[in-house]
Amino acid sequence: MGLEVLISEEKIAERVKELGKQISRDYEGKSLHLVCVLKGAYTFLADLARAMDISVTIDFLAVSSYNEGTSTSGEVRLTKDLDSGLEGLDVIIVEDIADTGLTLRYLYNMLQRRGPKTLKIVSLLSKPSRREIDIPVDYVGFEIPDRFVVGYGLDVNQKYRNLPYIAVAD
Ligand code: IMP
Ligand code: MG
Repeated sequence: MGLEVLISEEKIAERVKELGKQISRDYEGKSLHLVCVLKGAYTFLADLARAMDISVTIDFLAVSSYNEGTSTSGEVRLTKDLDSGLEGLDVIIVEDIADTGLTLRYLYNMLQRRGPKTLKIVSLLSKPSRREIDIPVDYVGFEIPDRFVVGYGLDVNQKYRNLPYIAVAD
């Protein structure tokens, strides 16, 4: 597989710091509960949380929306739930990429039923041209074209998550 750099390590670092600052301003004086969507968002979560200067707590869940490779199954399954409840909390879902929007709609609806005070979404990447479901993504790192990307947490068949940059895989 050929890998072509789409977003460099430096560009990612700069944008993630901006997002951290912006979110910190928006939630000034509040405590923010970050819900990281495993596995793809783990790198983003780590950098984003460290770019925030407000009080933050972190929890993890995992979903599987893709079978193997790069084709979607169209079905979302919760494979690991959060450790604690969301009642009364200011919550942000931290996702790696908004593609069709199926995963985020599933997560948003499921977590909304748990009674958070507020619920928002931050996604490092978004492919607007692929969107099938009109789910509002409150904070987006980068809009990218309809190419399959890996690195900075994102994988193909569980590989390339450790690349420090985002690359097009084809
Ligand atoms: P959606 O439900 O179609 O929005 O898909 C979201 C999930 O698909 C993401 O959380 C990723 O796990 C995966 N995904 C979508 N596009 C890509 C990509 O270009 N590279 C790696 N994973 C992707
Ligand atoms: Mg994902």
